[in-house]
Amino acid sequence: MESVTLSSGHSMPLVGLGCWKIEGNVAKETIRTAIKLGYRHFDCAADYGNEAEIGAALQEAIAEGDVTRKDLFITSKLWNTHHAKEHVQEAIERTLSDLRLDYVDLYLIHFPLAMKYVPVTEKYPPGAQMDENGLPQMAKVPIQETWQAMEGLVDAGLARSIGVANFNCILITDLMTYARIPPAVDQVESHPYLVQPVLRRLLSRYNIHMTAYSPFGYPSYQVLGVPFDSKNFLELDLVQEIGARYGKTPAQVALRWNVQKGCSVVPKTVTPSRLTENMSIFDFKLTDEEVSAIDALDKQVRFNNVGLPFVWNSPLFD
Ligand SMILES: NC(=O)c1ccc[n+]([C@@H]2O[C@H](COP(=O)([O-])OP(=O)(O)OC[C@H]3O[C@@H](n4cnc5c(N)ncnc54)[C@H](OP(=O)(O)O)[C@@H]3O)[C@@H](O)[C@H]2O)c1
Repeated sequence: MESVTLSSGHSMPLVGLGCWKIEGNVAKETIRTAIKLGYRHFDCAADYGNEAEIGAALQEAIAEGDVTRKDLFITSKLWNTHHAKEHVQEAIERTLSDLRLDYVDLYLIHFPLAMKYVPVTEKYPPGAQMDENGLPQMAKVPIQETWQAMEGLVDAGLARSIGVANFNCILITDLMTYARIPPAVDQVESHPYLVQPVLRRLLSRYNIHMTAYSPFGYPSYQVLGVPFDSKNFLELDLVQEIGARYGKTPAQVALRWNVQKGCSVVPKTVTPSRLTENMSIFDFKLTDEEVSAIDALDKQVRFNNVGLPFVWNSPLFD
């Protein structure tokens, strides 16, 4: 597995297992299988509601000698309800306790949105509290305060690297004006229907590594009922034909495309054959023409859109 060295000096494998929507009852088995197959990077979050099961799997894998802690790269994310400086520590302590770890390799601000605080003892994961108008209850916490608390986690040894997710060019540029520790990573939605050329360039200028989430586009959102009336890119002749040239699947082409553009990828699957498929992307290389042809599929479609629940009544926050 190839890796990238982050600005923090730590190394991160270019393929990680995305853990959103891995149900608790299959999480342990999926993580154990993934480790046996060679996965070392796991993309977790408090909001995914499965860190306790993942922690049990990690502990078992370490105890049985499949892997050591230092071989693993574990990411988790600060949920929106815990942005205030006095709540950031509570959030990471719960995550570390669930994951049965002393530190995470990477801790990300999950969204640039501060929501009303919910103690972990009251509701966990907290999700979003809606008001009577169906709007999320927010909190007045500037991102600068949250970032300073994140920097404190590095100082305290609880996170090796810190970063952000869902930050656009404006938010990154602002963050860089005050960051004592610059973000090592911006994790954003990225696939052939959302290419984000400008954000990619900006992140590269700031030496912030981009991780691509939802690299297969629509399937992750189809199950949530998000409307979309086009063919997903995995079904397009172009992507299938490119894959056929290398004996690779459309999914492998989509992952390889992101990696060749300088990203790491965190595809999610609970299907053992796909675990192997999704990490087998380092034995072929797309030509520049193939990369450009896939770039040209861009529709600027963002499936993970916090605005969607307000125009369509199936809150993504749940
Ligand atoms: N920071 C953020 O705000 C944020 C937001 C969204 C996601 N993420 C992270 O990114 C990860 C990945 O994104 P995602 O879960 O939204 O979607 P994804 O990885 O793009 O797609 C997952 C879907 O694709 C299917 N799949 C997996 N491998 C496949 C293959 N080789 N061929 C065909 N289908 C395949 C999976 O089915 P099966 O599982 O049934 O195989 C599942 O339905 C998440 O799990 C999470 O860790 C972060």
